[in-house]
Amino acid sequence: MNILLLFLYGSFSVFTLLFLIIMIESLLRGHDLPTNSKTTESICKIISEYKREASNFYDLGCARGALAIRIKRRFPNLSVYAFDNSGIRIVCAKLRALLVRADIRFAQENIFDVDLGNSDIVYTYLWYDTMPLLEKKLQKELKKGALVIANTSHFPNWEPIKQIETLFIYRKT
Ligand SMILES: C[S@@+](CC[C@H](N)C(=O)[O-])C[C@H]1O[C@@H](n2cnc3c(N)ncnc32)[C@H](O)[C@@H]1O
Repeated sequence: MNILLLFLYGSFSVFTLLFLIIMIESLLRGHDLPTNSKTTESICKIISEYKREASNFYDLGCARGALAIRIKRRFPNLSVYAFDNSGIRIVCAKLRALLVRADIRFAQENIFDVDLGNSDIVYTYLWYDTMPLLEKKLQKELKKGALVIANTSHFPNWEPIKQIETLFIYRKT
């Protein structure tokens, strides 16, 4: 009985500590909102319509992995790569993927250090101030025909081929 109580108390303390770390990190670093399920549904439709033959999907700034995991579930044949510069968010994303057995390459990286030359679909949900520099990187690195989906914050110079609610869809020419 005592061992069971000790175990329950220990588990509770670990979860409370994890929860506190996540909350404090979220307050300090901010902008970790996951893409909502309605928008995720629109992203899935866009992938089916514009890039059915894609073999990979890159989530640039994946936070705790919510969107990446949903995309992998809907498109199991896609290789999903997801990056964030927050180590805590990446640890959470990896644990989450482990729990649901989703095979996703999560990595702690600055998105500006990631080679995007092989990417078929790139997704972003970032601050506006990141977009001008990211536009230059994508212009330089993406292959012709790659699809870029930007949520809310859009690129300053690129012309979207379509806009669906908060989603701006671009095709690299
Ligand atoms: C709003 S969240 C997006 C979450 C996820 N893409 C989704 O849709 O569910 C934005 C994330 O981008 C990350 N981020 C911002 N700038 C970054 C950079 N230069 N390199 C890597 N991650 C970055 C932040 O840490 C944050 O977790």
